[in-house]
Amino acid sequence: MNIDVVSLFPTYLDPLKLSLLGKAQDVGILEVSVHNLRDWATDQHKSVDDTPYGGGPGMVMSPVVWGSALDSIREKSNHNPVLVIPTPSGQPFDQILAQSFSRESHLVFACGRYEGIDSRVARHYGDSDQWREVIEVSIGDYVLAGGEVAALVIIEAIARLIPGVLGNPQSVVDDSFSRVDSLIEGPVFTKPLLWRGLEVPEVLRSGNHGLIDAWRREQSRARTQEFRPDLLPSEADSKP
Ligand code: 6GU
Repeated sequence: MNIDVVSLFPTYLDPLKLSLLGKAQDVGILEVSVHNLRDWATDQHKSVDDTPYGGGPGMVMSPVVWGSALDSIREKSNHNPVLVIPTPSGQPFDQILAQSFSRESHLVFACGRYEGIDSRVARHYGDSDQWREVIEVSIGDYVLAGGEVAALVIIEAIARLIPGVLGNPQSVVDDSFSRVDSLIEGPVFTKPLLWRGLEVPEVLRSGNHGLIDAWRREQSRARTQEFRPDLLPSEADSKP
């Protein structure tokens, strides 16, 4: 998979070189290029933003500069890329979207700062045949200073789903949110058996895999009930 990220702060994306993602790039499963948006600014001051039409606080990023950046990245691609625009006003990013992105061959992330990117950019590329899809995504109900951290989150969630990136492919199957029943995962334990007065639950040492599976399912259900009741099937769903 090829990933391009465009940002005013390319070093914000340095963590993409580490750990799992770094390894995936070393072995050629993943190729990540980070670009500085300012390289496409053309005026004396290399400006990338301007005051908003209609007034209001802050600055809006220029469609002219973004257009040049995204055209140039598109021209170098052999695929029709998907354009991902992280924004708190986007569609919620979830495991289903991560799975669908993980099957793409080229993703381009446009990281905005300030009050965001002129809305015509998403509109223009969304109408174009040169891009497979344009999607504005949010990683949660809070506001970040820019799209960079959201892009890191999204890229990490995607990359670990690409075959060969994780050591144990079963990890992905057991993930919270990815199972058919979509519960969150329950507690996990390792050695020692007794740590600071806390013991590993007896059932996990029983060797009875039927019992262990049933216990884990119940733990998942209870934890989901407590923290994410919205994920549980509604009363109405279980009635005939
Ligand atoms: Cl994708 N971007 C920004 N700036 N803030 C966010 C977000 C994205 N998702 C939640 N908050």
